[in-house]
Amino acid sequence: MTRSGALSGDAPPHLVTPPPGPRSRALCERLAAVEAPGVNTLFTGKPSLLWEEARGANVRDVDGNVFLDLTSGFGVAAVGHAHPAVVAAVRAQAEILLHALGDVHGHPLRVELAERLAALAPVDDPQVFFALSGAEAVEIALKTAVAATGRPALVAFDPSYHGLTLGALAVTSRPEFRQPFLAHLHPHVRRLPFACETAAIAAALAAGDVAAVIVEPIVGREGILVPPSGWLAALAELCRGAGTVLIADEVFTGFGRTGALFAVEAEGVRPDLLCCGKALGGGLPLAAVLGRRDLLRAWETPGEALHTSTFLANPLACAAALAVLDALERERLVERAARLAPQVAQRLATWPGRFPAAVAAVRGRGLLWGVELTSAEAAGRCAAAALQRGLLLLAGGPEGKVAQLVPPLVITEEQLAVALALLEQALGEV
Ligand SMILES: Cc1ncc(COP(=O)(O)O)c(C=O)c1O
Repeated sequence: MTRSGALSGDAPPHLVTPPPGPRSRALCERLAAVEAPGVNTLFTGKPSLLWEEARGANVRDVDGNVFLDLTSGFGVAAVGHAHPAVVAAVRAQAEILLHALGDVHGHPLRVELAERLAALAPVDDPQVFFALSGAEAVEIALKTAVAATGRPALVAFDPSYHGLTLGALAVTSRPEFRQPFLAHLHPHVRRLPFACETAAIAAALAAGDVAAVIVEPIVGREGILVPPSGWLAALAELCRGAGTVLIADEVFTGFGRTGALFAVEAEGVRPDLLCCGKALGGGLPLAAVLGRRDLLRAWETPGEALHTSTFLANPLACAAALAVLDALERERLVERAARLAPQVAQRLATWPGRFPAAVAAVRGRGLLWGVELTSAEAAGRCAAAALQRGLLLLAGGPEGKVAQLVPPLVITEEQLAVALALLEQALGEV
C-alpha cells in the first residue's frame, strides 16, 4: 500500500494487525513522554490509534489498518474526510494567502463565507461572528447575550456539552469536567433537566434576569437525546416572552447531520443566536455564531474589537468551508442523511429486543444515532469489539454508556450495511 492516495474512501474495513498495532503503540508511547497527559489516549493509560490518512468514510492508521469511521472525526467529516473539492480549495488558497490580519484586515473568502452563512442561517436578519472552535463560538454567544441584555444569569440543561473553555464549561454539565474549576465558573447558571416541563423553564426565567438559555437541539456528545416534538418551540416561545436570548448550540448537529441543514429547522424554531463549527471547516478549525443583527450590535466599539483572536476567519479554513457548503449542496448530502435515516432507524429498533443484555435503548435522527448500552462496561466492551472489526466508534453520555453512530454523510449504502452488520456482531459479544 502506498503511503498516500491509497484510500478510496468507500471501502469496507480491512485490518492487517489487531489495533492498536505496533507502530501506533510505539508512537503513542513517544507522545505520552512529551505531551501533557490526558489528551493522547482513548482510554486512560491505554495506547490509542494514530491516523495516517483519511478519505471519505475510511481512516487508515499508521499500521496500515483501514477503518470505517462512525465518528466522522468528532462530527467534522460530514462531507467525508479529505473531500477532493475541500482539498483543492485549500491547496489553491495556500498558494496565495495563508493568513490575514484577524479582526483588522479581512480577505475576500471571508466576505464570501459570511454572505453564504448569513443566507443559510435560520435566524432573523442574521450576521456572522467567526470563531476558531465550537467552544469559542459558545463563548461569543454567551458574551453577546450578556452584553446585549445586561442581565447576569444563564440557563443551561443537564446533560449538555458546550465545550471546555471556562465560559463554555460553566454551561457544560458533566461534573468531572467542571469539578477542578468550580470556583472559577460563572456563578449564575441555572440548570434544568433537558426536555423538562415547560413550567420549570418558565419559573427559571420568571425573575427577568436571564440573559440567555443555551440548548443543544439534539443533545450530542452527552448521549444523543432527542426532545419531544414541540419542546424546542415551547422553549423558544418562553424565551421570547421573557426577553431572554435563545442560543441553539448546533456545533454537533449543524450542516446536515440530522437530515436538516440545522436541527432547529425540523422544529420550526428560529434561535436568536446559533453556534456552529465542526463540519463547517471540513477538517480545518473554523466555527461561527450566526446571530440577530440587533444582538450582535452589542459588539460595536469605537476602539479595538472586544472579542477576537489571531487566527480569526483563517483564509484556508474559509476556503475549506466554502467548498464544504458547495459539496453539501451539490451532492445533496442533507437530503441523503434524511433519506438514509429510516433504514438505520428500522435496523436499530430491533437491537434492544435482539441484544437485551447489551442494548437498553436506541434513539436519533438523520445520521446521528445513539445506542445506549446496559452499562458503561458493556459500552466499553462494545467499542473494543467494534474496533477489532475495523469500526471507529465513540461512547458518550454522562456514564459513557451511549455508543454514537456519526458516520460521514457520504458513507455509501454498502459501507453502512457493513457497519451495522459488524456492530451487531460486536453487540453479540457484549
Ligand atoms: C454541541 C457542542 N458544542 C460545543 C462543542 C465544543 O466544540 P469544540 O470541541 O470545537 O470546542 C462541542 C464539541 O463536541 C459540541 O458537541
